[in-house]
Amino acid sequence: MAINLKNKTLLKTGALINGEWVDGNNHYNVFNPSTGDMVAQVSCCGKQETVIAVSAASKALKLWKRKTAKERAQLLRNWFNLIVENQRDLAVILTEEQGKPLSEAMDEITYGASYVEWFAEEAKRIYGDIIPGPSNDKKVVVIKDPIGVVACITPWNFPNAMLTRKIAPALAAGCTVICKPANNTPLSANALGELAIQAGIPAGVINIVSGYTREIGAELTRNPIIKKLTFTGSTPVGKKLMRECAQTVKRTSMELGGNAPFIVFDDADLDAAVQGAMISKFKNAGQTCVCSNRILVHNTVHDRFVKKLIQATQQLKIGDGMAAGTQIGPVIDEGAAQNILALIEDAVAKGGVVMTGGKNAVNGPCFIQPTVLTQVDKTMRIFNEEIFGPVAPVFIFHTEEEAIDIANSTEFGLASYFYTRDIGRVWRVSEALDCGVVGVNVGAISNEMAPFGGVKESGNGREGSKYGLDDYLEIKYLCMGGLDK
Ligand code: SIN
Repeated sequence: MAINLKNKTLLKTGALINGEWVDGNNHYNVFNPSTGDMVAQVSCCGKQETVIAVSAASKALKLWKRKTAKERAQLLRNWFNLIVENQRDLAVILTEEQGKPLSEAMDEITYGASYVEWFAEEAKRIYGDIIPGPSNDKKVVVIKDPIGVVACITPWNFPNAMLTRKIAPALAAGCTVICKPANNTPLSANALGELAIQAGIPAGVINIVSGYTREIGAELTRNPIIKKLTFTGSTPVGKKLMRECAQTVKRTSMELGGNAPFIVFDDADLDAAVQGAMISKFKNAGQTCVCSNRILVHNTVHDRFVKKLIQATQQLKIGDGMAAGTQIGPVIDEGAAQNILALIEDAVAKGGVVMTGGKNAVNGPCFIQPTVLTQVDKTMRIFNEEIFGPVAPVFIFHTEEEAIDIANSTEFGLASYFYTRDIGRVWRVSEALDCGVVGVNVGAISNEMAPFGGVKESGNGREGSKYGLDDYLEIKYLCMGGLDK
């Protein structure tokens, strides 16, 4: 199936190595999860292409890190401008390969571009320190060096933004990158790569390979030229990558799974809470690691909240991402759909009640009806596992302490949300939640100004904000002596 684009240069199916699009002998198919149609055949890279890409990134590093911060900032700004100019085409590519509604894909391009703009600006603010020395003839000077060649492994749920959130700070810091996008969604990554070339970012600074995931991953973790690996994806894969990176003591940043609690206290504005729950639960058909996974509602407002949540959920329009008005697209593939249905079945078998939804939608095998489940409890798989689908399980709690206890009873610690009008409770609960990001009376928490990342088994490192650059920098301390002569 041909993708209808205004800027036809954006549809790239090769690998980007040293500024060239390389078409290999082997290919793999990319499918539209909504229709099952093949969208494109993409070059299937393995170890050999990865080694060449790493060496290109290493060569490019020498020149790239010597550019002034202002020069790097200008090139990032050019890239940002081109992303914005090509927003609709990038969104169409994204919807075709990932399935999310076009309006959400448009938002993702804006969101992804915001990281490029942000880090173009931050590139110029990589400051060091001069620290009072231990004696009068010495000065302690701290400078920041780019960490070097960086491997970026990114997921299919945000094929544009998860990549820009890694590439932009890396380039701002003076690093070069090899990117391995998910095989479900390589076209969004390639389109970004093409725009980077058109923006004037030099050959070898950004390289993109996809294909044999294990082979590419093994090379990226073992190759000593690579100094840092940044990954967004599942916790089991993150742990494996961390183990492999330990062999060469690479720095890692891990943005892993979540199991976000969404707490509705008895004093909450219920309409606002339902609105927040709808955003945080159903965005991207529930496929974000900050999606609310466990909705905890105080017993005195439970029935009213659930009624409103069901009404809002039943209004969601499910369909093909390219169709006007679609709010819920397919999940990424049939395997994902089956996993979600299995979580619902497990909950129902243990006493959970489907209040709406609960099945495959008629639109196709990858579509799941937006679902609300009640009478769920801790014994069910849905309490412990990341749903990654449009299913809202509602749990009951009786006290603030109990809500915090339930919220923290997970190995994950990425996002949490809560709704209350009590300022004391805002502080108490914010401080008590074991997670990296807290949404207080909001259901949307992601933006480029904020440090995004988790604690516990949700990972390490922060993306976005002024802190996002630290992950790509080494601190070097100069002990300067003999200064009193
Ligand atoms: C993710 O799902 O990995 C990221 C979500 C976000 O940036 O909001």
